Amino acid sequence: MTLAVEPTILVIFGSMGDLTWRKLAPAVYNLLLTGQLPGHFAVVGMDLKPASQDEFRLRLRDGAHGFCECGGVDENKWNVLAGNIAYISGDFASPATYLALESQIRELEKNWGSLANVVFYLATPPGIMQTIVEGLGAAGLDQDVQRARIVVEKPFGHDLASAIALNGVLTSVFDEKQVYRIDHYLGKETVQNILALRFANVLFEPIWNRRYIDHVQITVAEQVGVEHRGAYYEHAGALRDMIQNHLVQVLTLIAMEPMVSFDADEIRNKKVDVLRAIRPITAAEVAEVAVRGQYGAGTMGGENVIAYRNEPGVAADSSAESFAAIKLSVDNWRWQDVPFYLRTGKRLAQRSSEVSIQFRPVPHQSFPKTAATAWLPNRLIIQIQPEEGILLRFQAKQPGATLHLSPVDMHFSYREAFKTKSPEAYETLLADVMAGDATLFMRADQVEASWSILMPILNEWGNSAATDFPNYESGSWGPEAADALIQRDGRVWLPPTSQEAQDQA
Ligand code: BG6
Repeated sequence: MTLAVEPTILVIFGSMGDLTWRKLAPAVYNLLLTGQLPGHFAVVGMDLKPASQDEFRLRLRDGAHGFCECGGVDENKWNVLAGNIAYISGDFASPATYLALESQIRELEKNWGSLANVVFYLATPPGIMQTIVEGLGAAGLDQDVQRARIVVEKPFGHDLASAIALNGVLTSVFDEKQVYRIDHYLGKETVQNILALRFANVLFEPIWNRRYIDHVQITVAEQVGVEHRGAYYEHAGALRDMIQNHLVQVLTLIAMEPMVSFDADEIRNKKVDVLRAIRPITAAEVAEVAVRGQYGAGTMGGENVIAYRNEPGVAADSSAESFAAIKLSVDNWRWQDVPFYLRTGKRLAQRSSEVSIQFRPVPHQSFPKTAATAWLPNRLIIQIQPEEGILLRFQAKQPGATLHLSPVDMHFSYREAFKTKSPEAYETLLADVMAGDATLFMRADQVEASWSILMPILNEWGNSAATDFPNYESGSWGPEAADALIQRDGRVWLPPTSQEAQDQA
């Protein structure tokens, strides 16, 4: 991440929405606190809703106050920012809205005595994106290829065809270099550290392949339900909402070949190579390699929680999956026969995102059978959240006269090692866009390749309503069929390390 030095205007479309309130406002405020905003910086909010300048500023302040991990805003500091926040209410389909935006931009530039970088952030539902992109194009606001940038939030399309169409619209107006497709998982420190772990150390790379690795598990488990997003989620489901982007992106970081340099396109090329190597799934294989689930009622943390189908905005006979588990194979020299198991779900027993690299057992067991109750192969666990760290599990001799082996952990924790709090993902990503660094953003071909992998599953699921929903209880680890998926290969889902710690307590 490099510091944005140029004067910058952050234009947020959908600025009265949830994302701006919960994520963007706190991220901008944190960037201010950490001195990462350029000297000349302004936020221009755009939305249909009529609101006064003060109402908009107050809304951003409340978002920053409520959701920033800084413990609430300092009014003096906030006021510095507030003086540079403006709001334009208008219809995104009307040219007048873009004229108003343009004159706001020019006025700021005049006051600053300098041209500004302008970041257009589409924090809007996908349905309106085309209109905005075309509006910006018609107003000529896309023209300065160096200074104008556009940030597109997920979901990036609904399927392969709509993603291709959206990419077509974006690149008919903007140059691909101006487009920043956000996947906030790539902004998480722990996810970024995967590249450092693999390629800034000599230890891991020699064993990072099919000769030593048995399989890989990527779990993103959430305890929250669908919250207030039922209407969106009904058309998304876990496969589109989480696997298509976050989990597949993590997979590419685990599986990619070493990059030659830290150039954005070099890294993205290596990631696309992985996606292209993923074995296409046929319609007939879907039942074997993919499982969907939907939560029923249950108890979480001692409280009763309702079933997905009773959530606001959700159909009583909904077929949307709140859980998905899939098995992918990467057909290349490094990963042949090493399955990647991905699972994610809402209302699961724990909030835990982890990658487990399960190594093969030792080739020959020279210790007496009595030396261990279970021979556990090595395991490397990348803890993404809530724990942030890396854990290496290996066998050690227990102290004492008898030879007994048991698994122990070597643990690196971000908090303890660096004595500092990791920045929020949106903070990192916003700073990168302002600095013009696209390394952590998805290119058109990455997004399309990811949709291609999942289309057979989406088609099969879309064509046949699930007959067994709800099929897992809130507070459990998902449907039994997910266990069966991995057990068919003689393996089990590894409990997240936070769960193990709880079990041992
Ligand atoms: C979002 C999904 O992209 O990621 C949400 O739309 C999900 O459904 C969220 O809850 C999870 O993000 P995080 O950072 O809390 O793991």
